[in-house]
Amino acid sequence: MIYHDRSKCGFLNLKDVGRQVHMAGWVDARRDHGEVLFIHLRDRSGIVQVVFSPEFAPSNVCQLAVSLRNEFCVRLTGRVMKREEGTENPSLKTGAIEIMAQNLEILSRSKKLPFPISEKAMVAGAGIGGIESVAEDLRLQYRYLDLRRPTMQDRLIRRHRINKCVRDYLDERGFIEIETPILTKSTPEGARDYLVPSRLHPGRFYALPQSPQLFKQLLMVSGFERYYQIARCFRDEDLRPNRQPEFTQLDLEASFIEEEFIYEMIENLLVQMFEIGGIKLDRPFPRMTYQEAMDSMGSDRPDIRFGLRFTDATDIFKYTSYGIFKQILQRGGCIKGINAKGQSEKLSKNILQNEYAKQIVPGFGAKGMTWMRMIEGRLESNIVQFFSREEQQAIIGCFDAENGDVIMMIADPSYEMVVSALGQLRLHVANQLNLIPKNAFCPVWVTDFPLFKMTEEGISSNHHPLTAPAQMEFDPTDEQQLLSLKSRAFDIVINGEELGGGSIRIHDSKMQERIFMILGLSENEIEEKFGFFLRALEYGAPPHGGIALGMDRTAAMILGSESIREVTAFPKNRSAYCPLTQAPSSVSAKQLIELELTDLRRGVKKFRKSNLDIRCA
Ligand code: AMO
Repeated sequence: MIYHDRSKCGFLNLKDVGRQVHMAGWVDARRDHGEVLFIHLRDRSGIVQVVFSPEFAPSNVCQLAVSLRNEFCVRLTGRVMKREEGTENPSLKTGAIEIMAQNLEILSRSKKLPFPISEKAMVAGAGIGGIESVAEDLRLQYRYLDLRRPTMQDRLIRRHRINKCVRDYLDERGFIEIETPILTKSTPEGARDYLVPSRLHPGRFYALPQSPQLFKQLLMVSGFERYYQIARCFRDEDLRPNRQPEFTQLDLEASFIEEEFIYEMIENLLVQMFEIGGIKLDRPFPRMTYQEAMDSMGSDRPDIRFGLRFTDATDIFKYTSYGIFKQILQRGGCIKGINAKGQSEKLSKNILQNEYAKQIVPGFGAKGMTWMRMIEGRLESNIVQFFSREEQQAIIGCFDAENGDVIMMIADPSYEMVVSALGQLRLHVANQLNLIPKNAFCPVWVTDFPLFKMTEEGISSNHHPLTAPAQMEFDPTDEQQLLSLKSRAFDIVINGEELGGGSIRIHDSKMQERIFMILGLSENEIEEKFGFFLRALEYGAPPHGGIALGMDRTAAMILGSESIREVTAFPKNRSAYCPLTQAPSSVSAKQLIELELTDLRRGVKKFRKSNLDIRCA
């Protein structure tokens, strides 16, 4: 048998009945009926049933077939037949036919499997052992087997389609795909770098790129005008469910553009990408300023699939005699709340007081929560008697309260605490009470971010330091003014997840230098870290801007996967470890000697005094 006229399992159908076919693939499952043996033969295209029966196959072939086990790799020849009535398998695309084997060759045997790979029962309606109970680390250790599962194959094939859609779309719009270095210098995205020691330059290190940010801007200086790359990025940061130490961005940059260009282009692209998952996104995407998002949902990643928007109740209690609110307002605080409409049956007094006010909300960082239920036209709570009739009427009016509603308020001297805790409470309530519509996809642009924020180390960039301020005139020594500056950055958020972020950049070297200085870098540090970049901006740099979409997160959302690990061929586990290759692993003393890494303390002493960290988000 030769391979070039091989038929694919999943493509055979009733039209092929009578044909002699050559097949190759894996034994997905087997069923031995004594005289007759059935297997499910699987290749990338799907599964077809093969029958080994003495009626069609010589006895040596039937005997060999008895030795088949799951995941043996085989090739065979046979004739396509219509299945007998009543023996069809509707769960298979090819369930109306089967192949009567005439020949069989075992190409490669398989050891006993660490977990089931088959996802299709051989008998219609029969159950199969699922993968859900298999530990993720075991799946990752045998990832090559896990990837044989049709579900995983389908995910990676559709991820390929998403990538292709991106490439076709950007190519049509004049974007050029250009690769940028992996062995490079630190990029200012705010995470820790992965460092690579240099053998040829002992004591020196490359950094793996946290993003291609500096290079894509240099490509704009070079005059490419429109660049993109499906780029690998590396960040040594604390792991969260939607983060990997190495991940993929769709990174792009364009010259002579403004924000609207990016919004329009990314919206149309996302519409096409989501279509691959059968999801329709409506354009234009709504926009929300950072301030609006914080004021109304307590997050710069607002989930707009459901309401529960905040109502500001501070003014209602300006002259209150209720001690706790009075003290908080005297200290310049604020009071905000949400109205869980019609939820009073699910949120009893007991649940509100003993679970929400005493446990859940303190877990979000706030000291407590004030709750009120609207019952028979009146507010009811453990403290409602402390509020005047006018205050109660104002609460009802302000929260638009109707019978059955539950109002939850958080008061605190700190605005940040109120919105952060109420934002978490909003999500908790929505999840607990099933208020999030299933299969809804609601994108939103978040705009007008503050340029800087205050951290324990001092002023830092909210996005990265290459982001253009919304105004060019400001006093770099006026901290208050700096913290009130807006930037030209934007994030694209879908269902409360940040899928991408970008900005219009600074293209003036003097302004860029000023920003670095505001971030606390000395002249020497600026030269050491960014001298090459600032020099490039001195040679006729065009105005430019761009964005990066997290491709793992976007693909996971499009394909309905819980985790980005499910759409990544060889991900690290939750502790940034690869159970398959056992990376990171120790290295030999010989390698360390070659790299002159045996006496690390020397280097530490040398650099201890120098603080080259740049502060950004
Ligand atoms: P930013 O840091 O916001 O922007 O990254 C862009 C997008 O990349 C994804 N992402 C990640 N995905 C998986 N694992 C991670 N550890 C991880 N970190 C980030 C997110 C995020 O929105 N250079 C800028 C872009 C620009 O300004 O053009 C940048 O990298 O989906």
